[in-house]
Amino acid sequence: MPVIVPESAILLENLRKAYVSELNGHARYEEFAAKAEGEGWHGVACLFRAAAIAEQIHADNHGQILRQLGGEMDFAPHPVNSGITLENLRTAVAGEVFEVDILYPSFVDQARQCRDEAVERTYTWALEAEKAHARLFNEALARMELEDEESWITLADGFYVCPGCGYTTEQQHEAEACRICNCGWTRFGVVR
Ligand SMILES: [Fe+2]
Ligand SMILES: [Fe+2]
Repeated sequence: MPVIVPESAILLENLRKAYVSELNGHARYEEFAAKAEGEGWHGVACLFRAAAIAEQIHADNHGQILRQLGGEMDFAPHPVNSGITLENLRTAVAGEVFEVDILYPSFVDQARQCRDEAVERTYTWALEAEKAHARLFNEALARMELEDEESWITLADGFYVCPGCGYTTEQQHEAEACRICNCGWTRFGVVR
């Protein structure tokens, strides 16, 4: 007989998976940032640091709901496989594209089936923020492949991170409020 798993159990399991995935993402990008800094790619290091903060914000948002729903908060970190920065950027792009194209859309759908608006919202915010990460990592990768060392990838330019949803941008003052969660621009953190 097939085992029927209730939708609410899948909701909790997905939330825990998303929470763990974001915590691992945070640790991975911190390590990639240190590697990029050591190789002189200061701009790429800034981007990895900013993305690491954003992934922690996603983990915190998911974790808060997971705790409220009584889910398990246990977390065993994956070991980080760090290569040279060019390889790390490819890893980062692949991870972000997976989250944008596969993981979060399926989790959003499942949360909708459960009519859980809080869970749907935390996924939607993360999904939209990961799109910005994918764009920025793709640009860094393209510049590195072209050996464009005179561009932002070697400069310690700032990146701006929304404390509400982790939206990450290179624009110094993009708008009055976050395009994803409507948090005021003055609350954005700058990462250098
Ligand atoms: Fe991301
Ligand atoms: Fe935001």
